[in-house]
Amino acid sequence: MSQYQQIVEFIRELYHEPKDIIPLHVPLFNGNEKKYMEDCIDSTFVSSVGKYGSLFEKRMAEYTGTNKAVVCVNGTNALHLALVIVGVERDTEVITQPLTFIATANAISYCGAKPIFLDVDINTMGLSPDAIKDWLSSSTIQLFNVKTNIRETINKKTGKRISACVPMHTFGHPARIDEIVEICNEYCIPVVEDAAESLGSFYKGKHTGTFGKVGVLSFNGNKILTTGGGGMLLFTDEELGKKAKHLTTQAKVPHPWEFVHDEVGYNYRMPNINAALGLAQLEQLPNFLDSKRKIAKSYETFFSNLKLTYITEPSNASSNFWLNCILLPNKSERDTFLKYSNDNGIMTRPVWRLMNELDMFSNAETDKLVNAKFISDRLVNIPSSAISNNE
Ligand SMILES: Cc1ncc(COP(=O)(O)O)c(C=O)c1O
Repeated sequence: MSQYQQIVEFIRELYHEPKDIIPLHVPLFNGNEKKYMEDCIDSTFVSSVGKYGSLFEKRMAEYTGTNKAVVCVNGTNALHLALVIVGVERDTEVITQPLTFIATANAISYCGAKPIFLDVDINTMGLSPDAIKDWLSSSTIQLFNVKTNIRETINKKTGKRISACVPMHTFGHPARIDEIVEICNEYCIPVVEDAAESLGSFYKGKHTGTFGKVGVLSFNGNKILTTGGGGMLLFTDEELGKKAKHLTTQAKVPHPWEFVHDEVGYNYRMPNINAALGLAQLEQLPNFLDSKRKIAKSYETFFSNLKLTYITEPSNASSNFWLNCILLPNKSERDTFLKYSNDNGIMTRPVWRLMNELDMFSNAETDKLVNAKFISDRLVNIPSSAISNNE
């Protein structure tokens, strides 16, 4: 049996699916989903008002160990708002990684800012603190802004202010986030953590998304937990969290009947019916994490016998193993494997095209991106859905 055939057979056995297509990631609804959503319908509160939004926020703040969580319509607009809140403005620049989903870079563009793409670590696949340090020390100067009384970091080449840094916890594996935050603090650059893929992942015992000034989660249908569509902002600074909530609700000043809005806000609050789904899903998160860890262990053992690289949990981290990843020896073998596995009913996918290779970001500043290019040529995501306890 060829190596690719062995992989296909192994995945079929793992998911007990002899015939059908095995998807990359599907949701599991085994808890109170119907009950809570029915409750929304019975009460008529299916939209922006209702108890489930606040309950979901409260439970998520408890789970992630943060002080304030704010629901959003999706992860992309949560990212946009996070950037607005930390002060990303038109004609500033934001450091991020090129190995990410398009939403990270799009949110930067929505603010009128430009991304700077720096390399990732080879083992975490997240933004590399070494790359940030090298770039900041060689390419920027620090100036004191007398108007704001704040030290600013300025790109020597463009003269633009570096207004934020957005690391991403790729496929649920935590980046070296404590080091990233430490370096950015030195340069007075706020960190917005794109933790869209890493709900349930911890670094040095602390939940991802709670290290920077703001963290962002996504509950899109393909994520470890889904609300249909949805996102959340995580804040250590409760006051900043309250400001975010105000902005997600059109900045409406609370009043029994009057419509007064005290700044330009957004219609970004997650509807109650989605939050009801999210709350029921969150109750099952420990089961999802358990199941995904078992699947990851099986993959790790299997691929080590095959002598193919399976990307394991980084040191000091507890990953949620959202999407499992293997590295093929080169791009052409990657493509052969993608074709073979998809032709044989196993859904596999390459990593996203690097952001700096897309037309709209092709002029962006980058460093050499050695690791990002290496990973992008070789990585394949393999089926990773949690398996129900009832099966
Ligand atoms: C890294 C990353 N950032 C942001 C998002 C955006 O989230 P959403 O799809 O909820 O808008 C996603 C996923 O979809 C993602 O994977």
